[in-house]
Amino acid sequence: MIDNSLDIRAVLEFYTLSGVDETCGDGVCLALNVNSTKKEEFSKALRPVMSHLAVAATEAVKSAWDLCENVTTIDELKKIVEDFDGCTLKNTATHTVIGDGNPQAKLMFIGEAPGADEDRIGRAFVGRSGQLLDRMLASIGINRDKCYICNILPWRPPGNRAPADAEIAVCLPFLKKQIEIVNPDFIFMLGAVAVNSLIGGGESISRLRGKWMEYETEKGKKIKVLAGYHPAYLLRTPAQKSKAWADFLRLKKEMNKNN
Ligand code: URA
Repeated sequence: MIDNSLDIRAVLEFYTLSGVDETCGDGVCLALNVNSTKKEEFSKALRPVMSHLAVAATEAVKSAWDLCENVTTIDELKKIVEDFDGCTLKNTATHTVIGDGNPQAKLMFIGEAPGADEDRIGRAFVGRSGQLLDRMLASIGINRDKCYICNILPWRPPGNRAPADAEIAVCLPFLKKQIEIVNPDFIFMLGAVAVNSLIGGGESISRLRGKWMEYETEKGKKIKVLAGYHPAYLLRTPAQKSKAWADFLRLKKEMNKNN
């Protein structure tokens, strides 16, 4: 049986031992460069903390699903996510960023999480990555009126750190509800975190990109999914832009078949 009582002393001992002197979320990232006696102390102190966090995350996931149950519009969903207290990323974010674009579109893009500009302005993909995404979309004749753009997470992780698995799990019901409301025929996943969060598999984006996959909604609708490089990666690695272009052409070709 899981002991879900929170032993505050154990939590503080664990944090002190770990050299933590500041908090900005519930994801703990530590390098355990200590001897085996210290490691034993760590794991003892950590046990009640981890079981508490696991229980809290499981409850938050359930609560997110329950809150979404009767939601039918993006506006209703936005209100629910803004009021949700099951993910501490909200505490460090300025805005809750839901989707941008056309909620009736047949094409949906899913990125990772808002960055600094998106967090400040409250709209998905408006910073440098978003500007590149807009140019890539324009190259295949699409603008934001013809697609819906959102993220796995509605809140920016502090300092743009990688999202923790528990954060993704807690926010996934909100994304899945957005997919159900928008009801697209095609989804393009931007980057490895996005595709692995929704479809799973844990593969690198260079292996996953360019291959058609499928996502099945809770209601049984099968949606065609393509993955490609995240625009932030393309800004850092412009040599890969030709592959991104090929993926967008693949998307356009498949969409044209449906017209
Ligand atoms: N990167 C993302 O994954 N999403 C955004 O909204 C902005 C940058």
